[in-house]
Amino acid sequence: MCGIIGRVGDGNAIETLLTGLENLEYRGYDSAGVAVQNGSGIAVQKRSGKVEELKETIADRSLDGAVGIGHTRWSTHGPPTDENAHPHTDGTQDVAVVHNGIIENYAELKARLAKRGYEFTSDTDTEVIPHLIQYYLDEGYENETAFRRAIDELEGSYAVTAMCSGEHVLYAARQGSPLVVGMEDGEYFLASDVPAFLEYTETVVYLEDGDVVIVDEEGVEFTDLEGNPIARESETVDWDPEQAGKGEFDHFMLKEIHEQPTALAQAIEGRIDPENGRIALSDFDPGTFEGIEAVQLVACGTSYHAALYGSLFLNQAGVRSTALLANEYSVAAPPIDENTLVIAVTQSGETADTLNALRRANREGANTVTVSNVVGSTAAREADDALFIRAGPEIGVAATKTFSSQAVMLTLLGDRIARDVRGESAADLESLLPELASIPDRVERVLETSTADRIAQRYEDSESYFFIGRGLGFPVALEGALKFKEITYEHAEGFASGELKHGPLALVTPKTPVFAIFTGDEDEKTLKNAEEAQTRGAPVVAVCPDDHRAADVADEHLWIPNTEPDLAGLLANVQLQLVSYHAADLLDRPIDKPRNLAKSVTVE
Ligand code: M6R
Repeated sequence: MCGIIGRVGDGNAIETLLTGLENLEYRGYDSAGVAVQNGSGIAVQKRSGKVEELKETIADRSLDGAVGIGHTRWSTHGPPTDENAHPHTDGTQDVAVVHNGIIENYAELKARLAKRGYEFTSDTDTEVIPHLIQYYLDEGYENETAFRRAIDELEGSYAVTAMCSGEHVLYAARQGSPLVVGMEDGEYFLASDVPAFLEYTETVVYLEDGDVVIVDEEGVEFTDLEGNPIARESETVDWDPEQAGKGEFDHFMLKEIHEQPTALAQAIEGRIDPENGRIALSDFDPGTFEGIEAVQLVACGTSYHAALYGSLFLNQAGVRSTALLANEYSVAAPPIDENTLVIAVTQSGETADTLNALRRANREGANTVTVSNVVGSTAAREADDALFIRAGPEIGVAATKTFSSQAVMLTLLGDRIARDVRGESAADLESLLPELASIPDRVERVLETSTADRIAQRYEDSESYFFIGRGLGFPVALEGALKFKEITYEHAEGFASGELKHGPLALVTPKTPVFAIFTGDEDEKTLKNAEEAQTRGAPVVAVCPDDHRAADVADEHLWIPNTEPDLAGLLANVQLQLVSYHAADLLDRPIDKPRNLAKSVTVE
């Protein structure tokens, strides 16, 4: 968790650092801080709260310096206080450090340093780093060596950027947490993610575990921990700054919901060939998955719902498949061997629980693939193969477009796996292909005609919100409920339609609207389940095509176009995203940054 940024260049770095931090706030927003070389030493400003509050603090004081670092925090060690905010410094303020990750041996290091007289002022694990660097400086080492020696002592995960008083240099290291370098003529950046500096440069280098970089006005030196030069390729990212901003929308979430037609078009671009009636997933050669006997999909949260979607699709295609919560995987995983394919579904590619599951699968000899949105993410590097969903940056903490793109990519991947495992005729996608090709247009029509704002208003005063679905509608019901609860703070639950009568029906009242998803698979049963709730007073909102019987039976109706059952759930999900969005907006919730949550959950 946490977002870090560093900048070396001419002029004042403050503006760049603060803008970068705002663009990284999706990684955490418990506190924020910056440190710059101001001519007479290192000047630090930091406080609890969001970057906006830091900006107000800084406006009253002059803070000037061409080289600096910044941090936005999601608390792990110690509460979100001013003292625990980064940057952290040594006692003399000769060294300042920002860090994302967890230093597992911090207690031992802290005890050792405290014994030698180094004074700690925070509860964080991070504070050991500046003290450790200072310790080596006190031992007579020059800055770079002191940094390397300190890094060598750290155990755990980190992306660290440090600076030492009196020089225009940044030192950075990566182990298990993301760190990317941005390069423009005479200006260099270090950050947890590309949007931090996207308005200044598109040329980036993703660092790998074990990398140490030295950045000064002359450029960037890429080395290993011992200081040996290493080669790292630069890449051009094709995200423009506007894409990473809110544009005409009030919230990133709404913008990202509306980006789904584009995201889906990008996802399937060049990967399906409807004219020849085939999927053309060139990412994997035919035969890649031959010999696979079982597929396990591991993921968390929204990505888990996409994984469940993919798993149900695979089972329908006759491939043994299970979706598992990544955080349960170490205690309750089915057996793994070299004939198992483990698919880690993670939009960020940095979710600690999912990475742990992936690492376990790698250790035990499974074949591994990640389905991710972030090229250069840890999951993409550690899995045997990666399939990128190409959804573009998602800033809102609530995942929207990435869910849709993940589900569609898992359908394409599922087709490849089924053909490899069961023979070319296994997955009969003939009818699905034209529907897949037109899914961006269908989502567009749902967005253009949605009446979700009116539905949200009508049921604003409810006590609980239930979502039900069957087959591929079930993961969508779970996702609808997750979205609703995380941004409205209202109670919401998702159920398999048939489960309602096995307990949850006891909760149903006129104050518990039931959103029922109709995909075309056993809809009569789902309708019966919805009517069971309706008979007991619950208003029913049917998400279905206009000519569906449920549209007449239900109290309200959200329209989706007629399509294949395998894809109908994705269209229904767009309506449910909009219901959640409008409900949260009516309640004036901080939609893009719901309380207690962060976009990228890099702790277990
Ligand atoms: O980056 P990941 O897809 O691995 O993230 C997993 C979950 O933390 C994430 O899907 C979370 O549930 C959503 N942001 C909720 O909207």
